[in-house]
Amino acid sequence: MVTSTAKRLMKFKCNTCHQGHDPKDEASGTTDTTQKDLVLRKAVNPDICLMCHGKFDYKVMAGLTGDWPEVADTFNGDCVTCHKEFRTKRHKLNFLNEQEIEKAGEKDSNTCYGCHGGRAWYAIAYPYVRRPWLKRMPGALPEWAKDRPTEYTKRFTK
Ligand code: HEC
Ligand code: HEC
Ligand code: HEC
Ligand code: HEC
Repeated sequence: MVTSTAKRLMKFKCNTCHQGHDPKDEASGTTDTTQKDLVLRKAVNPDICLMCHGKFDYKVMAGLTGDWPEVADTFNGDCVTCHKEFRTKRHKLNFLNEQEIEKAGEKDSNTCYGCHGGRAWYAIAYPYVRRPWLKRMPGALPEWAKDRPTEYTKRFTK
């Protein structure tokens, strides 16, 4: 939350992560007055961590044959050239500095990889939403993406 990198790329508030604040009963919805929709015994639903600490999902990226460290040289270590065409509406959430992210990623794609595999401590990848621009392209919805949502919860949108 407080490093210069973190402050440049993100703008976390306490309630970006925290939804719960009842130290007595962290089981959600046990009575009429306890908060609903919390993960058991957690004030923070760790799903949010997975957004930036999950695996690099090369399997969904047409053209990539392996994990980023193995194939990065083939693409001059560059995510952005490809991603000028694929999934270009991104990072428009209220806890991200989208412009700073794009600037930093343009200069050095390790910044991109940092949140998309480089700091993975989960064995899985986050199933990011697919924003609707793809719907306008016929045949552009691959099988793996059929059940993906197309927008984030209100809590995260601007
Ligand atoms: C990046 C996400 C994130 C942000 C932002 C964040 N926290 Fe936390 N915080 C956590 C996690 C994860 C835990 C562990 C709680 C759990 O197990 O659910 C935690 C725990 C805590 C606890 C202990 C809660 C308990 O039940 O033991 C306090 C108090 C707390 N945070 C206060 C804050 C305050 C104040 C801020 C803003 C200045 C803040 N947090 C911002 C993720 C975050
Ligand atoms: C929006 C993206 C984002 C989210 C969400 C996020 N992190 Fe991070 N996290 C980062 C970035 C970027 C850094 C590196 C910051 C730096 O080096 O200054 C980092 C660093 C860390 C580190 C330091 C060790 C490392 O791997 O670099 C820990 C531990 C960590 N995060 C835990 C968490 C936890 C726990 C959550 C969920 C409660 C969380 N993060 C959610 C982006 C995120
Ligand atoms: C060879 C071109 C190419 C390169 C290089 C590339 N990607 Fe991708 N990426 C794609 C394609 C294609 C998709 C899937 C597009 C779609 O959703 O139909 C994708 C999807 C993604 C997704 C969304 C995954 C999901 O599950 O929704 C993320 C995040 C992503 N790329 C990040 C990166 C990052 C970070 C790098 C560099 C470390 C990178 N990509 C390098 C082509 C590329
Ligand atoms: C600070 C962490 C962070 C950095 C740095 C970062 N991302 Fe992301 N990225 C996220 C988060 C969180 C999401 C989920 C929000 C979203 O979908 O827009 C995401 C989503 C995406 C998606 C899916 C968007 C969609 O909905 O279709 C793509 C593609 C992507 N990032 C590519 C990149 C590229 C390319 C870079 C470098 C220019 C990059 N990311 C840098 C955190 C980061």
